[in-house]
Formats: sequence, C-alpha cells, structure tokens
Amino acid sequence: MRIGVLTGGGDCPGLNAVIRAVVRKGVAEYGYDFVGFRDGWRGPLERETVPLGIQQVRGILPRGGTILGTSRTNPFKIEGGVERIEATLRDLGLDALIAIGGEDTLGVAKRLYDHGVNVVGVPKTIDNDLAATDYTFGFDTAVTIATEAIDRLHTTAESHNRVMVVEVMGRHTGWIAVMSGIAGGADVILIPEQPITVEQACSEIRRRHERGLDFSIVVVSEGYELTYDSGERRLVGEQARETDQFGHVKLGGVGGELAREIEERTGFETRVTVLGHVQRGGSPTPRDRVLATRYGLKAADLVDEGRFGRMAALHGDDIVDVSLEEATAELKTVPPEWYEVAKAFFG
Ligand code: F6P
Repeated sequence: MRIGVLTGGGDCPGLNAVIRAVVRKGVAEYGYDFVGFRDGWRGPLERETVPLGIQQVRGILPRGGTILGTSRTNPFKIEGGVERIEATLRDLGLDALIAIGGEDTLGVAKRLYDHGVNVVGVPKTIDNDLAATDYTFGFDTAVTIATEAIDRLHTTAESHNRVMVVEVMGRHTGWIAVMSGIAGGADVILIPEQPITVEQACSEIRRRHERGLDFSIVVVSEGYELTYDSGERRLVGEQARETDQFGHVKLGGVGGELAREIEERTGFETRVTVLGHVQRGGSPTPRDRVLATRYGLKAADLVDEGRFGRMAALHGDDIVDVSLEEATAELKTVPPEWYEVAKAFFG
C-alpha cells in the first residue's frame, strides 16, 4: 500500500511525533510506502510532495512544528479542488491518506471521505476543542507553556502590586484558559463559554484587594467576548473582519482591552501579556509525545484494517476510533463543571 500523509491548520507540538509513529509502524509492520504532502491540503492540490520514510523521521520525536509544513488551505473553496486532489491521489498511486489536523482539516477529510477518498484522521490542536476525543495532542504543551508564564507573572505582579492580564489562545473555547488558570492559581478566568461580565471580574479583583492582597492574575481566552452588565457583548478581533479560508475571524487583542477596563474601573495598575504563538512553539511535553505516538500507531492500524472515515481518539486512557463525522459535528466546549473548579478560587 502507498499512503499519503499531511498536516493541516495551525501547527502544534507533537505533529512530528505522529508522523514518526505512522511511518515507523507503517513501514515495519505493514510494509507501506509513504508520500508526504507539503503544507496541508495545498500539497495534494498542487501535487507538492516530499519523501517520507524511516530516514526522514529519524530524530523528529522531540521537535516542534511539522516536517511537512502546514497551511489553512481549504480545497472546497477552490474551483475544482476536490477533483484535483482525487487526481493527485490517483496519479501517485495512493491507496489512502492520513490527515493530521483540527476541526477544519478533519472537516475537509470527512467531506473527501464522502466523495469516496480513503482517509483516516488524527486529532491535533492546542485548543482541545475537537469533539469525540478527550484530548487532542498539543494541548498539554500549550497549557504547560501558559502555566509557566502565569507562574512567572505572579512574582512580578506581586513585586509591583499590579493586576496582570494574560491572554491565551483557544479560539472559541476556553480550555487553555481554564486549565492553565487552575494550574497557575489565577484569580479570575474569562472564557467564551461562561462569560462573566467585566464588572463581575472587577468586583472579584476588588474583593481580593480588600482582603489585603494587592496583586491579581487574570487569565482571558482570546475568544472571550467583552461582556457587560448592560447586556452588551463585543468580540475583539471582529472589527478586522479578516477571515481565513474556513471563515474564522482572526482573534487576539481582548487582553489589552480588558486590562484598560480593569485599570479604569478599579484604579489598580494593570499590565497585559499576550502569549500568542509561543503557546504553539517548541518541543512537546512527554504527555503530548506519548499521546501523539499512540495516535500515529492507531492511524496506521486503521489504514491496515481499511477503516476509513475514522479518527484516532482518546477515551479515558484508551486509544479508540470514532467517525470523522462525529469528531467534526460540533466543537467541544468547556463544561460548567470545569468552570466551577476555576471559580472556586476567584477573588
Ligand atoms: O487553532 C489553533 C490556534 O492557535 C488558535 O488558538 C488561534 O486562534 C489560531 O490558531 C491562530 O492562528 P494563526 O496561526 O493563523 O495566527
């Protein structure tokens, strides 16, 4: 069998660990030949390939990013895109495709599967917002990086008696904010799913300062809409109206606006740190390396079993497979129980 592999969407730590596992098992156990596609769906669209074998995956387990490159290309937004991909797979003699990505990349994989393409998915994203799996790889690394940042901000916040606002990624879900906020001991956490108001956030900070503490850490998820007691809500970033090929607004900037509001309303000196793409860079944590490796092995097995239209997933401690349809039907949002854990430490 000849198998194509691609990585799509935002990069994240652990992509190379998946590629390594897929290739190692595919070659050693199933005797597959592999073809790497460059830059996500752009690869099969433009017929841009890279050699992918045991030699290419040596030493890549701890490396961040992806040796295949990535992009947010959407073949369904390109005239004749699907036919071009089908032609590439046919002409290169590929029997199957392994797509490693988040909701967008796997959404395309699902639609291609409906068109008859033999595709298997692997769930990637620092946002952890993919349904049908407990965790995506990359998330643990992002939370680790954000938690370390919060720890560091604590000491400088305390020295200067300041409020520190930390803006983390996560798009329309607050997983990174909630987990890093709990782990880092944040005093207020604002997420898209349970939007407490700016006024409530300020009163939590005041309450804390009334208890004699004169610094606070506020974690805000980039997708949190500035929400006011009046009922007004505003998504920062929306003004730019810049969207990618999947229709996503480019987020970022809510931390700065929130910091201004907090300083104005409470009178406490406030600073903002936007962690941005630092959360996606560098080496994966051991947990992400192990998860990515297990997903890669499962993807090779799914191809061998001819179980296409499926995605490797984590349920509890077990690696299972779920349908791409189920995985991409809706976003996995932070449930109220998790936010309750965070709220127990507010103020
Ligand atoms: O989906 C991962 C993610 O890092 C989001 O958290 C963030 O909103 C987005 O990608 C940033 O995308 P880009 O790399 O295109 O700036």
